[in-house]
Amino acid sequence: MRPMSHKPTIVTIFGGTGFIGSQIVRAAAQRGWVVKIATRIPERAYFLRPCGAVGQIVPYHCDYSDPQAIADAVKGSDYVVNCIGILYERRKGDFTKAHTAIPEMIATACRTHDVKRFVHISSLGVTGDSRYGQSKKAGDEAVSRAFPDATILRPGVVFGAGDSFFNLFAGLACLLPALPLIGGGHTKFQPVFVGDVTEASLAALTLPPLGDQDPRGKIYELGGPEIVDFREIYARLFRHTGRQRALIPLPWGVARIQAFFLSLLPQPLLTPDQVQSLKHDTIIAKNALTLADLGVTATGMDLILPQYLVQYRPGGRFSHS
Ligand SMILES: NC(=O)c1ccc[n+]([C@@H]2O[C@H](COP(=O)([O-])OP(=O)(O)OC[C@H]3O[C@@H](n4cnc5c(N)ncnc54)[C@H](OP(=O)(O)O)[C@@H]3O)[C@@H](O)[C@H]2O)c1
Repeated sequence: MRPMSHKPTIVTIFGGTGFIGSQIVRAAAQRGWVVKIATRIPERAYFLRPCGAVGQIVPYHCDYSDPQAIADAVKGSDYVVNCIGILYERRKGDFTKAHTAIPEMIATACRTHDVKRFVHISSLGVTGDSRYGQSKKAGDEAVSRAFPDATILRPGVVFGAGDSFFNLFAGLACLLPALPLIGGGHTKFQPVFVGDVTEASLAALTLPPLGDQDPRGKIYELGGPEIVDFREIYARLFRHTGRQRALIPLPWGVARIQAFFLSLLPQPLLTPDQVQSLKHDTIIAKNALTLADLGVTATGMDLILPQYLVQYRPGGRFSHS
């Protein structure tokens, strides 16, 4: 008698080497799925291989500018997740490429190859008029046109070990005697835990296609349980790092000029486009579908921030202050 064959679930994750993508890779591997990490540089994905059994997590070279390479990466997948994104442009047009053209090619490939579910990670920043936000918005529209069943997730600022938001400001608090309140610091945020974004992505891939629960063709806005402004964010940072700093209000015009110079750094700390983004609140709209509609309970910042901000305390991890 021949042994029964069992085809494992295959998920392809674009941008699986990144902050959010790597968490989704780990969670997908824990479910026993075969995880293909589509990446420009496969070596960047090697650190994730120990998160699965031998051969379960497969780094896969993909040239994102080539529709055929994207189609080859998608072919044979049950599920696809796109986590590709950038915070600033090195060259004009980078936002359009990363946030609009690549997602459209992935969505088209998903349709061609009969992928069952496609989750596209966008951003709550689509509501703003920054180039970042506009490129994300155009990307969401292109994805929905090319693959109407796609589930689009729009997280606010995402926190968790390895994030680029709280770690940046905690790092600056170690170096500077004062921190800026850009535009007076009144912009509102609704930070969401990376673990909740991961759970939401997996729910969007697996929830049964029944009634209201069916996540296909829907947009979800992902935020945490708290809405905070910059002053509150700094207050949390100071509490969890044990470092108190002065706060200096920075009018929008001054912030823009500073951002111009900071954007010239090899790894820009702030860009004029990010200052533009900061003019708009990134909070969940009143009637939006949210984490709760995907069966995920939002995690508060104070549960998670102390776990990784401890490294910024004077004396580091072993300080008792
Ligand atoms: N982190 C947040 O706070 C936050 C908030 C809202 C929305 N989002 C969105 O969530 C998604 C994932 O965010 P993340 O923080 O995990 O991103 P990330 O770690 O900065 O990067 C994700 C991936 O994007 C790819 N990438 C980087 N630069 C690229 C370029 N110039 N061209 C093409 N691909 C490039 C990389 O893949 P390879 O190097 O493997 O090719 C990288 O692993 C993005 O769409 C982001 O906009 C994030």
